[in-house]
Amino acid sequence: MPDVAKVKNVGLRGVTVADTKISHVDGENGILIYRGFQIEDLARSSSFEETAYLLLYDALPNGPQLEEFKGRLARARRVPAFIFESIRKLPEKAHPMDILQASISLIATDDPDLESETREANIAKGIKLIARMPALVAGWDRIRKGREPLPPDNTLSHAGNFLWQLTGEQPDAELTRDLDTALLLHADHSFNASTFACREVVSTRAHMYAGVAAGVGALSGSLHGGANAQVMKMLLGLREVEDIAGWVKTQLDSGQKIMGMGHAVYKTTDPRARFLKDMCFTLGRKFGQEHWCRLSGQIEEIAVAEFVKRGKTSIKPNVDFYSAPVYHIMGIPLDLMTPVFAIARVAGWTAHIIEEKFGDAQGKPALYRPSSEYVGNYCGKTGCMYTPIEARQ
Ligand SMILES: CC(C)(COP(=O)(O)OP(=O)(O)OC[C@H]1O[C@@H](n2cnc3c(N)ncnc32)[C@H](O)[C@@H]1OP(=O)(O)O)[C@@H](O)C(=O)NCCC(=O)NCCS
Repeated sequence: MPDVAKVKNVGLRGVTVADTKISHVDGENGILIYRGFQIEDLARSSSFEETAYLLLYDALPNGPQLEEFKGRLARARRVPAFIFESIRKLPEKAHPMDILQASISLIATDDPDLESETREANIAKGIKLIARMPALVAGWDRIRKGREPLPPDNTLSHAGNFLWQLTGEQPDAELTRDLDTALLLHADHSFNASTFACREVVSTRAHMYAGVAAGVGALSGSLHGGANAQVMKMLLGLREVEDIAGWVKTQLDSGQKIMGMGHAVYKTTDPRARFLKDMCFTLGRKFGQEHWCRLSGQIEEIAVAEFVKRGKTSIKPNVDFYSAPVYHIMGIPLDLMTPVFAIARVAGWTAHIIEEKFGDAQGKPALYRPSSEYVGNYCGKTGCMYTPIEARQ
């Protein structure tokens, strides 16, 4: 056992728990890289499918490799009928993240290779999850609205097919390209809470579906992926409000958060937020909904200035601050915003699960087992004593 410094760090901030070759966040300088590539380069030139390949295989594909990968993704899109039949029985008010989490366990029950832990079997599971999660999100939205889930259109890209399965309309080319870029920007983010959850679960040698289901659960919280829906709620609540500065002050004076701002790692503007802000204005102009982007910009300006006044100079917009108005303009319902985050992040989750299972970055897989400091009672010291139930007051 190597020497380990005895440290206690509630929340594990800044504690390095593993090596990874998948992505890196430089929070001081606002830099995000996937497999060595700057996010800005990928967002300008790559596609979600190509980026998913890069994350999974640690190399950019050549032309035939990319075509083959896209073909595998497209062929894996179809969700087995028993899954839709099962979720059809669930309450229509159920949160789509809960439905998604449950459906991932259902996909596991149908995998003939569930027990196989070869690298190729894990890549095949990853492809199945990346391909099917959009179909599950879209299918559930249709089921709860009393419509039938639509079959995939394999002539469409990953992003385009999601829009088609959600709306039943041929997707607009520009909108498809922007959704593709948004998915790419959300595809990975080093050891965030949901990725850590995935890696922690599979470090026990649980299968990939168990890991991804845990990731969906972790992502659903409002301090993580759930923040995008909270941002949209905030924008909807503020659209008639004139005194935004007054609202920001009241919010902060009463100890409330401004959703979509601040980050555990970034101490400057999240590079993804810059991209999404520009996308918001471009899409907003095209669809006559620029007012959402102007409102977001106004809140950003006022809130950042107010944080500075309060000595908090590093609270800036994060990825969720502008993804919310972008998704709203794209017509994505508020409670599907976090599931849309999940259908992007599954590319990173599956790559991290494979890295964890095969010890790709640090040589040897290891079971996560942190310690805690016990601060509860100790009968020897505090005098508590076990008494039979009949003798208790
Ligand atoms: C993401 C988040 C949890 C990271 O924060 P963190 O590094 O853990 O820092 P803390 O939550 O401890 O915040 C440090 C201080 O800044 C304040 N702060 C951080 N983000 C804030 C926000 N969005 N609004 C208001 N205050 C905020 C905290 O209240 C805290 O103040 P205090 O020291 O007076 O108690 C936090 O910024 C947050 O809750 N943001 C809103 C939710 C969100 O957008 N999540 C998505 C993240 S991608």
